[in-house]
Amino acid sequence: MSATETFRARFGADPAGVWSAPGRVNLIGEHTDYTGGLVLPFAIAARAQAAIGPNGSGIFRVTSAQRGNDVISVAAQDIRPGAPAAKGWPAYPLGVVWALADRGIDVPPLDIALDSAVPAGAGLSSSAAVECAVALAISDQLGSGFDRPTLARIAQHAENDFVGVPCGLMDQMASAASTEGHALFFDIGAGTTEHIPFDTAAAGLRMLVIDTRAHHSLADGEYAKRRADCEFAAEQLGVELLSQVPFAGLDEALGQLNGPRAAVLRRRVRHVITENERVRETVALLRAERIAAVGPLLSASHASLRDDYEVSCAELDLAAETAEQAGALGARMVGGGFGGSVIALTSSDRAGAVESSVMGAFSRAGYPRPVVRSVTPAAGARHDA
Ligand code: GLA
Repeated sequence: MSATETFRARFGADPAGVWSAPGRVNLIGEHTDYTGGLVLPFAIAARAQAAIGPNGSGIFRVTSAQRGNDVISVAAQDIRPGAPAAKGWPAYPLGVVWALADRGIDVPPLDIALDSAVPAGAGLSSSAAVECAVALAISDQLGSGFDRPTLARIAQHAENDFVGVPCGLMDQMASAASTEGHALFFDIGAGTTEHIPFDTAAAGLRMLVIDTRAHHSLADGEYAKRRADCEFAAEQLGVELLSQVPFAGLDEALGQLNGPRAAVLRRRVRHVITENERVRETVALLRAERIAAVGPLLSASHASLRDDYEVSCAELDLAAETAEQAGALGARMVGGGFGGSVIALTSSDRAGAVESSVMGAFSRAGYPRPVVRSVTPAAGARHDA
C-alpha cells in the first residue's frame, strides 16, 4: 500500500499531500560527522513516504503501512521525550513534531501515514528517511520555509533528543539535501555542502550495497563510546572538535595524547583525521572524473574502521574482503558498524562475480544470505503529490 492508500484506509479521508525522503549510502567519511569532519554520502532510490493531513482534533494519529493496522493516537501534550509516545517506530514521526514545536513552530494536530521502502537495520538510514519526509511534509504544509540544512537539523534533533540516539548530522543531511546524480560533500565543521557529480554508469562501474543482515547488540553502546573517545581526545588536544586537527598535524597530535588510554585514543584520532583526508582525496578524484581510482580509498577506509576505530565485525570484514578478492575496485563498511552493509565499487562486468562470491562465502561461513542491491545517487526529500 502507498502512503496515500494507507492514509485513506486508516483515517477515512484524503491526505493534504504526500512527501518522501530517501535512505542513504555513505561513499566515504565514516565516523567523522560528530567530530565536525567531512562526509560524502548520497541518497538512494529507496524512500520513505509520509502522507499527512490536519485532523481538526487535539490528537495526533500515526500509522505505518509496515506496522499492521495499528493507529497510534497521542494527545499533543503527551508528545515529549521520555513519554510512552517516545517509544518504538512512532517516536520518529512524533519526534519531528516535537522538534518543530521545540523551535517554536505551532504544529496543529495531524494524521500521518508512513510507507517506507528503506530496509530497516541495513545501515541505510531508514530512520532519517522517515524523519526527513515528515519534517519536509509539516514544514511545507505550514509554509515554514525551512531550508534543507535546517530540516536536517530538526530531524537530527528529533533523533538525538526524542528518540534518544546520539547520531551526527550526516544521515539527515544526505536524506534532506541530496540531488540526483550527485554525492553530497558536507563539511560539518564549516557547515557547507557541495553537490559532486557521481555517475558510476557512465564510467562503466556499479556500486553494490551488500546488506549482511548482521545486527550486533553492542552497536549503540560502542557508538556512544567512540563519540566520547573523540570528545576526550579533542579536549586533550585543545580543539573544540577533533576534526579541527589538520592532517599535516596528525603525528604531532598523536604525540600529545597521554594517560592510560593513550594507545586507544591515538588509534581513534588516526582514523578520524586520515578519514577526513580520504574524503578530500575522493572528492578530488570525482571532480577529475576518475571514479575507478576511488576504490583503494574505500578499502583503506574499511581497514581504518576495522583496525583503528574498531567498529567492524566478522560479517562486514568477510563481505569487504570477498568483494575485493572477486575483483571489486574497493569495498568498505558503511554507517555505524557492528552489522549493516558494505559497499563495493566494481566494474559493471565484474558485478555479477562479486555478488556470487559474497553469497558463496556467506553460505560457507554459515551466515544468513546477504541482500545485494545496486545503487545510484537519487534525489533528496521532495513533495510527491
Ligand atoms: C550512523 C550515524 C551517523 C554517522 C555514522 C557513522 O549512521 O547516524 O550520524 O555517525 O553512523 O559515520
